[in-house]
Amino acid sequence: MALYSEKVMDHFRNPRNVGVIEDADGVGEVGNAKCGDIMKMYLKIDGDIITDVKFETFGCGSAIASSSMATELIKGQPVSEAMKLTNKAVSEALGGLPDYKMHCSVLAEEAIQKALDDYERRKTNV
Ligand code: FES
Repeated sequence: MALYSEKVMDHFRNPRNVGVIEDADGVGEVGNAKCGDIMKMYLKIDGDIITDVKFETFGCGSAIASSSMATELIKGQPVSEAMKLTNKAVSEALGGLPDYKMHCSVLAEEAIQKALDDYERRKTNV
């Protein structure tokens, strides 16, 4: 059996939503101390809807595929839905990740949570 699903390979080779949102409403950056990989998420939020999301990932193929899939899953969604996104949902949407690569999808969940926290913080500080 192939180590990675077709979907993982597709999102690794053609990642969606790569880049930076200069005037983002929320930004979250996380890293994994063990592997040294870093992920950064940018959110544009209008009303309660995530209208745009972009990411930069300095990391492994699974981290790139996970961030790409995670952005697809939350784009166009209300903030409350994005808050519920788990790494398990990201991995399932990718057709599964090998056990030792599950932490890569955790990075995507954490980066989104952190960007949402940043958004909430900015909102309450206005
Ligand atoms: Fe570190 Fe994948 S090996 S995020």
